[in-house]
Amino acid sequence: MGTKNVNAIISEEQNDNSLPVLDGTLGPSAVDIQTLYSRNGLLAYDPGFRSTASCKSSITFVDGDKGILLYRGYPIEELAEHSEFIEVAYLLMHGELPSPGQRKQFDEAIGYYNLLHEQVLSFYRGFRRDAHPMAIMVGVVGALSAFYHDVMNIRDANDRELAAIRLIGKMPMIAAASYTYSVGRPQRYPNNKYDYASNFLQMMFGAPNREHIVDPVLARALDIILILHADHEQNASTSTVRLAASSGANPFACIAAGIASLWGPAHGGANEAVLKMLMEIGTVENISKVIERAKNKSDSFRLMGFGHRIYKNFDPRSLVIQKQAKKVLAHLGKEDPLLEIAMRLEEIALKDEYFIERKLYPNVDFYSGILLRAMGFPMNMFTAVFALARTAGWVSHWLELQGESHGIDRPRQLYVGKTLRHYTARK
Ligand code: SDX
Repeated sequence: MGTKNVNAIISEEQNDNSLPVLDGTLGPSAVDIQTLYSRNGLLAYDPGFRSTASCKSSITFVDGDKGILLYRGYPIEELAEHSEFIEVAYLLMHGELPSPGQRKQFDEAIGYYNLLHEQVLSFYRGFRRDAHPMAIMVGVVGALSAFYHDVMNIRDANDRELAAIRLIGKMPMIAAASYTYSVGRPQRYPNNKYDYASNFLQMMFGAPNREHIVDPVLARALDIILILHADHEQNASTSTVRLAASSGANPFACIAAGIASLWGPAHGGANEAVLKMLMEIGTVENISKVIERAKNKSDSFRLMGFGHRIYKNFDPRSLVIQKQAKKVLAHLGKEDPLLEIAMRLEEIALKDEYFIERKLYPNVDFYSGILLRAMGFPMNMFTAVFALARTAGWVSHWLELQGESHGIDRPRQLYVGKTLRHYTARK
């Protein structure tokens, strides 16, 4: 195993060692290596896909060096400022912002399909009361395949759109039910007098023995959180959805696979891990110890909410969330010492050579837990809120890849195991 100039390898085998280069509309070009193996018997090795474009997509663009995030070309900051989650979901799915008539139709469809089949609610009784909401959501969303898989034809564009609408519509009730079940409160139903974010809040925090007034400041803050988390190009959970979908699996099973992948602490589970880390730090005085631990290679500890595979600059989402966290805390007249610790931690880390050299900045998860906690969400619901939002991106990628023709995703490997040997029973 040595290093060789690729041209040297290819030209030994093949006089034509040229490979096409594909240009996108934004971002890096890509060397098309689809014929590398068939022409040269060579594989490209890229664990973690640091240099691999797994597909072409028109949905979201991220420039990690500049801290740019565009949904269908629109900057995330503008969408967070001026749009609403359901409008953004439509944009991600269809590629354009809806006209007033399209928006009304989409709102009505989401509202029509936001109820769960009563038998799905019986699934919740099978879980322990202390089951993590993500465990429940993986199970319940996957189980929707038992209710809708047979009534849809993924080859039919209308059926595909309906499946996407059902998933976006039902996620708030699925997520809220996993919380109310854990605290022994009766499941609440959606009420379409509320908008999407407010409906989720009333299902989360309402109770049958009183009228629940949704605070518009909290509803708007949640809607912005949903916009910010809606999509992020080929992240681990979206790639999981795409890979599952490439086998022709139904959308409910594919989104359940995405939820499972998002749960990991290196991905969507980081928001919960950040809050646990901030609580463990406890006081500003302990920050330097934690920074040293994060830098210590013999310590597996990582500064949760810091770093990103693509962002080597500020994650534009974390800046918006920090602002919303301050706004909501001020609105509620609350002080959260963890916000002070988080801001000091950010300030100290960003001056530290280790973080500067590795371009480690706060990511979307660094402040989101503080904002969600201020709104009353328990820690174990943070990733469930992330999954609720990312369903819009997941279904949009699921819809986009239906038009792809490269067949099932089937990565190869560099085999480093035993060579051929024959069986003899062990004495
Ligand atoms: C999300 O992909 C997406 O788009 C995801 C997401 C989305 O919207 O879908 O943006 C959402 O998942 C955000 C990320 C949430 N995860 C965390 O906050 C967990 C903490 N972060 C790290 O685990 C890490 O930064 C990752 C997983 C996010 C990125 O890991 P990479 O790209 O594999 O980085 P790396 O391991 O190659 O790190 C490069 C260096 C290493 O040090 P050296 O070996 O070069 O000496 O940076 C170090 C790492 O040890 N490093 C950290 C660190 N993150 C990277 N050191 C301390 N603390 C950290 N958080």
